[in-house]
Amino acid sequence: MRLLVTGAGGGLARAFLARVPPHHDVRALTHAELDVGDLPAVMDAVAAIEPEAIVNLAGFTDVDGNERDPARAFRDNALGPHHVALAARAVGAVLLHVSTDYVFDGAATEPYDESARPAPINVYGRAKLLGEERVRTVLAEHVIVRVAYLYGTGADHLSRQLARLRAGESAAAIVDRTGSPTHVDHVAERLLPVLLSGRWGTYHLAGPEPASWYEALCRLRERGGFAAPVRPQRAEELDRPAARPRYSALTSVLLEHLDVAPMPSLDEGLDALLRAG
Ligand SMILES: NC(=O)c1ccc[n+]([C@@H]2O[C@H](COP(=O)([O-])OP(=O)(O)OC[C@H]3O[C@@H](n4cnc5c(N)ncnc54)[C@H](OP(=O)(O)O)[C@@H]3O)[C@@H](O)[C@H]2O)c1
Repeated sequence: MRLLVTGAGGGLARAFLARVPPHHDVRALTHAELDVGDLPAVMDAVAAIEPEAIVNLAGFTDVDGNERDPARAFRDNALGPHHVALAARAVGAVLLHVSTDYVFDGAATEPYDESARPAPINVYGRAKLLGEERVRTVLAEHVIVRVAYLYGTGADHLSRQLARLRAGESAAAIVDRTGSPTHVDHVAERLLPVLLSGRWGTYHLAGPEPASWYEALCRLRERGGFAAPVRPQRAEELDRPAARPRYSALTSVLLEHLDVAPMPSLDEGLDALLRAG
């Protein structure tokens, strides 16, 4: 299958590209090579490549940056996927687009499944939700995969705190926000199976155990046998411009019915992070 990957320099994209089976013909375009906010550029690139499937991993993912720059947020995170969906439709390609747990308001006390109603509380969540809606409107043959709290990309909070623990330095993480910590590889290896299922629609793909980053970090410290201390932080201490949902853990009521392996446990994810060195 000829596959186009957009946003190819990102953390999830790198993990995905490392796992695509070699029989696929993959064309990967970084942000510098294709700006999904530029409709003519997207139409031209897709027309030239003629992919059978597009995996859109482009996104403006700095949540506070979205709050400070709503114009870029809506351009990249709402119109970007809209443009990719329009281009996919023009060449008859199917589309996988990635969205976020931050489409939810965080008032829940149990994980959100695919039937839950989104109600974003920050610009990033609003822009990503609008992106989802545009994809659904333009192209029936799509899957939207909502992911959350990714670690293992190297640039994420948990990976950075692990580097500190390894250096014998103290680490810190937020204790009063709960999500679904998920090893990026566990998402990456399931994206194509979800797309190739042909069961168009929206899916949640996240680690099975709700936890704060602090809880995940404590578990990582214990499993790695590190001596340096771990400190809990409160969200308000950080004084960040964008509000974050208090609780945005995800679960799926659909994936068990598709031919997609269940998500591994948090401990398996943390052990994979420790093994990666
Ligand atoms: N990481 C998480 O915990 C998390 C949680 C929920 C949802 N997600 C979603 O997962 C997807 C992948 O994110 P990630 O974690 O891999 O983040 P990432 O590492 O920031 O990757 C996003 C990539 O998209 C690129 N990009 C930004 N604007 C673009 C544009 N207009 N056109 C083309 N490329 C553009 C970025 O390039 P530059 O760096 O050059 O801007 C970057 O290479 C995103 O849709 C994100 O919303 C991630």
